[in-house]
Amino acid sequence: MKSLAITGNFPEANVEALAVVVFKGEKASSADLSGLDKITGGLIASVIANDEFKGDVGETALLRFHPSGKVKASRVLLIGVGDRSDYKTHAVASVAGGAVRFLQKRKIKSFALLPRSAGNAADVAQFAMQGCITSQFELDKYKSKDKTKHTVNSFVLCVEGAKAAELKSGLNRGQIIGDSMNFTRDLANEPPNVLTPTEMANRAAAMAKETGLKCEVLDEAKMKKMGMGSLLSVSLGSEQPAKLIVLRYTPTKNTAKKGELLALVGKGITFDTGGISLKPGEGMEAMKYDMSGGATVIGTMRAIALLKPTVPVLGVVAAVENMPDGRASRPSDVVTAMNGKTIEILNTDAEGRLILADAVAYAEKQGANRIVDMATLTGAVIVALGDQNTGIMGNDQGLIDEIIACGKENGEGFWQLPVSKEYSKQIRSDIADIKNIGPRGKAGTIMGAVFIQEFVDKAKWAHLDIAGTAWADGVRPHQAKGPTGVAVRSLIKLVEKSQ
Ligand code: BES
Ligand code: ZN
Ligand code: ZN
Repeated sequence: MKSLAITGNFPEANVEALAVVVFKGEKASSADLSGLDKITGGLIASVIANDEFKGDVGETALLRFHPSGKVKASRVLLIGVGDRSDYKTHAVASVAGGAVRFLQKRKIKSFALLPRSAGNAADVAQFAMQGCITSQFELDKYKSKDKTKHTVNSFVLCVEGAKAAELKSGLNRGQIIGDSMNFTRDLANEPPNVLTPTEMANRAAAMAKETGLKCEVLDEAKMKKMGMGSLLSVSLGSEQPAKLIVLRYTPTKNTAKKGELLALVGKGITFDTGGISLKPGEGMEAMKYDMSGGATVIGTMRAIALLKPTVPVLGVVAAVENMPDGRASRPSDVVTAMNGKTIEILNTDAEGRLILADAVAYAEKQGANRIVDMATLTGAVIVALGDQNTGIMGNDQGLIDEIIACGKENGEGFWQLPVSKEYSKQIRSDIADIKNIGPRGKAGTIMGAVFIQEFVDKAKWAHLDIAGTAWADGVRPHQAKGPTGVAVRSLIKLVEKSQ
């Protein structure tokens, strides 16, 4: 997407369509709209007066007119955003993305956007660009025909009174963040016969090479040596060997306090059949997305490598396939994790926590003193929070609050669920230290969290259950159906705030 930042003369931008934000109840005579209204010969005033356009969130109206003078565009796209007081900077991403998808359907190639946000100019530009880029992601990679035509290939951003350099740097950041979200989404969308643990490791390694990250891939022999009996128990039933993908970002100028290291740890189950505790056939195909936590880590690390914050970040992804087989784990098997704890596996479908156990212990052993793990861990979080909020739990309220705040800035909801000793008691095993499931039908999401907590020693830790938010079941005005790239933006912010 070609982009250009301008700080005035919006109606004269050399584009096919002028997209402008309109607030609920706004009149065409308002300062920002009256000039445009004149250019269109009063069309804006007429659609507002006739209640054809009210400015509600998500509302759009495309008006055609005959341009004259210095005006090149022949269309105005009105984009409703609701009340002015509710209009947050991050909403610019959905506005821009919504405009791209709307105009694309009408074969338009270029547009200018007047986002009318009161937010910081660089942030506005960042969200605008990110929204444009993520709006063009489609599920059609494997279609041999009928691919969506991305006709919109250039956009002009106008923020009046802003500094051009600020806008430019915001656009650059938006490009990196949008591309990284799409990188994550592409991984999550890959069919499991393509994206095996080995392929996931290869994609991470190729990305690392391109962006200057260090990448190390631990094979099963190495993991065995390190005592990762919990992680390895999950891949026993698969022909595909497990891989532990380790990505390291080291800043050239390091402003982190000595001993500070943030680790992002992801669940990368490339397909979850449930193992011997086999899932029902109906809906099993959705489990190709069970590596979304890992994909989020890889995409976020890509953005970090390119944005170059001044603090180090460690990325760890446990890439494993969960299959039933003669060699697979049985319910009642006992395994020993890297930190020496013994686990009674009572359900082989609760495999995410088994791989994360060793992955978080590994991250801490590598020196991490703050760990954020992310996983499509439980169906229960979908029941509790649906697709609007990611479940967040952890052992440190400060870290949890920081992530929630980063989410708010990016329009990503995180909702905290409790963990406590009482919950932890519920995963005590009769014959081993702990068991991998809690009491049937009770606090399933929290049981997953308190299990992972057993493998965190001194580090501050937060756990994100993205099972409900990593995949959108339907198309949204600014976004295709499918993988969402949730949490990438908030985690980038978390890293940047720790500078
Ligand atoms: N990958 C699933 C979680 C999941 C289930 C995500 C349904 C989206 C929809 C996870 O590995 C799993 O199967 N969890 C079990 C845990 C249970 C056996 C304690 C679940 O949620 O049912
Ligand atoms: Zn499972
Ligand atoms: Zn799973």
